[in-house]
Amino acid sequence: MEKIMYDREFNRSIKDPENFWMEQAANISWFQKPQRALTKDENGFYRWFKGGKLNTSYLALDAHIENGRGEEIAFIYDSPVTQTIEKITYLDLRDRVSRLAGGMKRLGIEKGDTVIIYMPMIPQAVISMLACARLGAIHSVVFGGFAPHELAIRIDDAKPKLIITATSGIEVDRIIPYKPMVDEAIGLAAHKPEHVIVYNRRLGAARPDGENDIDYSTLMKIADPVRCTEVDATDPLYILYTSGTTGKPKGIIRDNGGHAVAMYYSMKNVYGINPREVFWAASDVGWVVGHSYIVYASLIYGCTTVLFEGKPVRTPDASTFWRVVSDHNVKVMFTAPTAIRAIKKEDPQGSFIGQFDMSGLRYLFLAGERCDVSTLKWAEGKLKVPVIDHWWQTESGWPIVANMMGFKEHFKVKPGSATKPVCGYDVQILRADGTAADKGEEGYVAIKLPLPPGTLPNLWGDTNRFVKGYLDKFDGYYFSGDGGYLDEDGYVFITGRVDDIINVAGHRLSTAEMEEVVAKHPDVAECCVVGIEDDLKGQIPLAITVLKADADIESFQLQAEVVADVRKEIGPVASLKKVLVAERLPKTRSGKILRKVIRAIADGKPYTTPSTIDDPVILQEIHDLFEEQMVGSFEQKAKQSS
Ligand code: COA
Ligand code: AMP
Repeated sequence: MEKIMYDREFNRSIKDPENFWMEQAANISWFQKPQRALTKDENGFYRWFKGGKLNTSYLALDAHIENGRGEEIAFIYDSPVTQTIEKITYLDLRDRVSRLAGGMKRLGIEKGDTVIIYMPMIPQAVISMLACARLGAIHSVVFGGFAPHELAIRIDDAKPKLIITATSGIEVDRIIPYKPMVDEAIGLAAHKPEHVIVYNRRLGAARPDGENDIDYSTLMKIADPVRCTEVDATDPLYILYTSGTTGKPKGIIRDNGGHAVAMYYSMKNVYGINPREVFWAASDVGWVVGHSYIVYASLIYGCTTVLFEGKPVRTPDASTFWRVVSDHNVKVMFTAPTAIRAIKKEDPQGSFIGQFDMSGLRYLFLAGERCDVSTLKWAEGKLKVPVIDHWWQTESGWPIVANMMGFKEHFKVKPGSATKPVCGYDVQILRADGTAADKGEEGYVAIKLPLPPGTLPNLWGDTNRFVKGYLDKFDGYYFSGDGGYLDEDGYVFITGRVDDIINVAGHRLSTAEMEEVVAKHPDVAECCVVGIEDDLKGQIPLAITVLKADADIESFQLQAEVVADVRKEIGPVASLKKVLVAERLPKTRSGKILRKVIRAIADGKPYTTPSTIDDPVILQEIHDLFEEQMVGSFEQKAKQSS
């Protein structure tokens, strides 16, 4: 009974995507309506709403103002680290966005140009994104926790005409000077942007001035506001780099039309929120969650969105999230399980929760990493609202598997499962040979093509990698990179990545990228980096090295140097803290490092010795190494799993 509505809608979305999505497309204001929903491009890839014309910044701002909502609050900037709360109306936001867009236009930025945004969680970051969208320029936001070297890789790939940054960010106990990092990145990159716009936060951070630097506030004073540029539905709105299985991040492209339709659809149907209500995604604009649910979906759908500059703990304590929910009457909240674990660690009884009026909160959504059952239960028990684990990726841009709260009746939550495929996603579990796995049988999580609107149409500048990475593995399917299974009721259980990507505190990172940095250390002969379980961050990276025969270095010294190298090359967000020295690494006879087995040993989990192993004795050596050097955590894990 409860599922009739979902079943009907879901089946329609899969069997008749053309009409299903044309109906959804009617919810947004097009400059020119598309005649068709689904077509194929010159590469044979599916495209949505080709021929439709629109502007995403118009949908997020002007459309609401034209509907008489200009004086309503578009977003609330809540910054415990600077003790600021600023409420910005749609009118005010539109004025600031159109003025910045005017300033960018003066600098020569036009439709189709790329712009990198490297900024902390301040209103100017959102304004910059929307200003790009207004001009039809393509933004690429780079998360502030990435080091200059990573920023340089993205500069060389996206080739921005302009970088927008701020003088500083704030990380709990320290100021992060962004501008010197941007300068370093530009120095490292082969491509040189024409201009850098710098927003001065006046927090005292170093702000070296370059000859092509422009002060954000000065530009805002002299610029004229501009109107929205019409773009095609299939024109890119943004590029967001995410970790792949090589050292080079992948530039996920998001288009304008499909994205806007999907954003609108998901707010209503997945998150079950209404326009004018307050939606809070406690993430960062540098991640996909921030793009979709701090900025675009919330504004396109006409909610008030919260831009939170802080952490779940230590800014100032584990009550912060609940204070924000209560102060701003948040109806639906979204965060990563790791944030809840951090709060639970500081306030196990959840006693802070009782100090706030949380009666407005309807749902808590969790994503970004596997949600462990104890975190789910704790949140349910303390918050007394449905806690919805949902699964998606940078590539999809919006939820793939969820308990869709927009339907009147919901599915029963099964801990460990993100529930059912969202309308539009034909999720299937496949075996390595491409046949369908049985119920309960673990396999590869794939989605039958076409993917719905809003999902990646391609990778920036790398169609080959797009095909190889996602489409080649199973003919006619998109391969997600995750493993999982379906139970007898059709619930989807995601068991984790089947590649070298790890999720550290909800941040997606590549172990291959870290290995490249570790391997560069002059004393390291070979190495591997694996993601091991961590009570707080879900996973953390661990490096195992084999030293060169003539190396003369103590292991603690090596660890300090390698940790510093990874922070410098990738950034603090990588959270690599532990580096072990082994005599040898376990490998197959063809020389492939047995990372999966190493991970199992580190996590104290059972494993079978692969028949292809070169020398099984090495596994015992690795076991002994963990026992010796990971005292405490290793013993505890071994005990837990025995
Ligand atoms: N700029 C500069 N440095 C940053 C940064 C940024 N934007 N974001 C993080 N860092 C640094 C941190 O200061 C930290 O440095 P340290 O090693 O010197 O302490 C390091 O990167 C790791 O940061 P983080 O992963 O945030 O760990 P933490 O220990 O500071 O906090 C949590 C732990 C769980 C509270 C935090 O990770 C968290 O809130 N996670 C939720 C993540 C999330 O929302 N993900 C989005 C997907 S929904
Ligand atoms: P990102 O692209 O950074 O959003 O990371 C996407 C990856 O995070 C997915 O491929 C999964 O491995 C993991 N992930 C995200 N949400 C969940 C979830 N609810 N359950 C399990 N894994 C998740």
